[in-house]
Amino acid sequence: MRIAFFDSGIGGLSVLHQAQNHAPHHDYIYFADSEHAPYGAKPAAEVRDLVFAACDFLADLQPDALVIACNTATAVCIEDLRGRYEFPVIGMEPAVKPALAKVARDRVLVLATSLTLQEVKLEALLEKLDPRGRCDKLAMDKLVNFAEQNCFSGAEVEAYIRSQLSHYDLNSYGAVVLGCTHFSYFKPALSKVFGSDVALIDGNQGTVRHVFDCLSSLHGADALSEVQHPPQTTFYRSGKVAAAGMYESYLDRLAGCF
Ligand code: DGL
Repeated sequence: MRIAFFDSGIGGLSVLHQAQNHAPHHDYIYFADSEHAPYGAKPAAEVRDLVFAACDFLADLQPDALVIACNTATAVCIEDLRGRYEFPVIGMEPAVKPALAKVARDRVLVLATSLTLQEVKLEALLEKLDPRGRCDKLAMDKLVNFAEQNCFSGAEVEAYIRSQLSHYDLNSYGAVVLGCTHFSYFKPALSKVFGSDVALIDGNQGTVRHVFDCLSSLHGADALSEVQHPPQTTFYRSGKVAAAGMYESYLDRLAGCF
């Protein structure tokens, strides 16, 4: 199988990382639209055009499935993408359900980009899953800029996280949802601020499980166990083939964040 992953930048590598762990024998394609990142503070129409251009590029490579490893792109246009291509398109949404299940009484803080927080998709999800209103929402757009600048810790990152949280009572939260794939890189920094008792929950594993369930029901379990010799991962940066080294070092970094 050949599975394509799309994100505005290096965030979706946190989902690719899970997929490679789960099924190392497949071919993967990763597209980082880093020339246009971050998406989260752009108007929805602009993000939609960028996502369509990138996904049309990936569609020409004929993947068996496309993973929109970006909560923002999913919030803006996942239904349109599903109607546009023949292969399955799997999106991501903030992992509100596992977070609410994990903490019985405490509150849950959903971190995401401004655009994800603005879109109706998250509102609908919260209306369905959180009738008691246990979730609060907070934008952390600048973490995406930090990640794209290869800065994942240190005084500046910590000061930004603390300033965003200054109006929130940190003791009231039992779980924090990482509703942007870039935020996985900041698990150590977030843990330092929230304390190690607060669960940091992303939707990566659930998404990967869903991708392989989808492929298995479409092609059969045997097709999924077929081994590509040797399996390959190809990286693209905004439509141009990119050297693997830098992306592999991000994947290594992520391995230390889980
Ligand atoms: N990684 C993305 C997400 O999951 C997009 C971040 C951005 O480009 O602002 O939302």
